[in-house]
Amino acid sequence: MIRFLLNNQPQEIEHCDPNMTVLEYLRDELNDTATKEGCASGDCGACTVAFVELVNGELKYRTANSCITFVGNLHGKQLITAAHLKEDQQLHPVQQAMVDQHGSQCGFCTPGIVMSLFALEKRSDSYNRADTLEALSGNLCRCTGYRPIMDAAVQMYEPSADDQFVRNQEHTKKQLSKIANDSAELIELSNGNNHYYAPATLQQALELVRDHPKARLVCGGTDLALEVTQQLKEIPLMIDLSRTAELNSITVDEQQIVIGAARSIDSSVETIKQHYPEFAEMLGRFAAKQVRQQGSFGGNVGNASPIGDIPPVLLALNATLTLKSASDCRDVPTDEFFTGYRQTVLQPNELIAHINIPLPTANSHCKVYKISKRQDDDISAVLAAFNFTIDDNNIVTDARLGFGGMAATPKRATATEQALIGQPFTQASIDSAQTKIADDFQPLSDMRATSDYRLEVSRNLLQKAFVEIALAAKGDNSNTFFVDATQTRICSHA
Ligand SMILES: Cc1cc2nc3c(=O)[nH]c(=O)nc-3n(C[C@H](O)[C@H](O)[C@H](O)COP(=O)(O)OP(=O)(O)OC[C@H]3O[C@@H](n4cnc5c(N)ncnc54)[C@H](O)[C@@H]3O)c2cc1C
Ligand code: FES
Ligand code: FES
Repeated sequence: MIRFLLNNQPQEIEHCDPNMTVLEYLRDELNDTATKEGCASGDCGACTVAFVELVNGELKYRTANSCITFVGNLHGKQLITAAHLKEDQQLHPVQQAMVDQHGSQCGFCTPGIVMSLFALEKRSDSYNRADTLEALSGNLCRCTGYRPIMDAAVQMYEPSADDQFVRNQEHTKKQLSKIANDSAELIELSNGNNHYYAPATLQQALELVRDHPKARLVCGGTDLALEVTQQLKEIPLMIDLSRTAELNSITVDEQQIVIGAARSIDSSVETIKQHYPEFAEMLGRFAAKQVRQQGSFGGNVGNASPIGDIPPVLLALNATLTLKSASDCRDVPTDEFFTGYRQTVLQPNELIAHINIPLPTANSHCKVYKISKRQDDDISAVLAAFNFTIDDNNIVTDARLGFGGMAATPKRATATEQALIGQPFTQASIDSAQTKIADDFQPLSDMRATSDYRLEVSRNLLQKAFVEIALAAKGDNSNTFFVDATQTRICSHA
């Protein structure tokens, strides 16, 4: 049975198809039609709802695309939809701001936009343009335009009396902590045919995976749910790893960052930023806020997509994956994990438990670039991640170049790497290495990019990495590089 709060009403669901999404639950079971379906694939944001969780005694607000969130994921949370915002006949200040600023025309995308602004307002005290753009990055409006919506975001912070959510917060905390008191219990949901388990501990999860090797693992569901909503499949058995504390942790020791496989991408960014700002910056362009708050590292790796954004970076950073079963634990280098198109070395009785990313060294230089047609909420045509180690004599002692979108799996450019290792880090070496990219990859042409474009952009990204690293070195007064204005490229004095 799952237990959660629907606004402030405790709810229990025992018998239902675990393939049901939160959107279907709202619209079909509860007749809450304030929450709209636009795409059923997580892209448009019309179905955005707010999830509230009790974290260290505080209520944390975030958004989720209800169309790609399985109903089992509601356990332990408060669910707030656009239908819950109005109090008596009074619009919520966020809704009123959208009306006053003319932020809605078709109205279909509006409930989702309101929920994204509502959750943002609960997370922050004052207007910030960058945060507002980020909060709205997964809400598509094709008619009003974003300016009036941004104006509404400014207005929503104007002083007004506390809303009902602030007034009820102590009561909400008590109700959520009552549910959390049962946190060691295994959560189950079933309609007789399809089953869902949400273990509370890693040990429970490992035993379930051992006993049900055909079960599909799920963390955020932002990939898996598409099999249900887009391919119309039915998943007979799911094991949801998102409740287990061990898989939600993030730690940094003297050697590495260790990220729990179920930890959301959004909640990992701050730690990653301290060590790999370029990686964190790319994660700011991973999907959109709703998906980043729900989707996990483990899901991105476990999905084994050739166009996943995180695996190429893990390849470049020489990360390892800790794979666990009930009887074993092994660390696998990322470049041994992917064996073919959507194939991995993961055994049916195993799960990805942690992702281990070595810390940068004094001589290492990391660059990460995402090429996609749109800035936000778009899948990469090419993802390039470079990690060079360059010694004090300007010699490349190590080069790891990870690419996505270039092959059937996330893959290193080993021929290009070999062309660089042992060479001076100069324009001439880069020129020579660029010719090797076509030896490493024969990419496909598809709707995102042609094969030629992918090769060309990969060569250009290698050039870009060189320029940026060289300029940074110049800023450090190493005086090894200069910009040749006639050729607008970086050259070495050597
Ligand atoms: C609108 C939209 C935009 C997106 N944009 C991007 C993007 O820009 N870049 C990108 O890379 N991806 C993108 N994605 C894909 C997706 O959000 C990511 O891959 C995300 O990281 C998946 O995490 P999850 O927890 O939701 O995975 P889930 O859907 O829960 O799982 C994905 C797969 O991994 C397996 N799995 C999950 N956890 C484990 C584990 N611990 N061990 C082994 N296997 C496991 C599952 O069985 C499943 O096959 C997008 C998705 C949507 C809907
Ligand atoms: S309906 Fe489009 S994101 Fe959910
Ligand atoms: S108000 Fe719906 S698309 Fe803009």
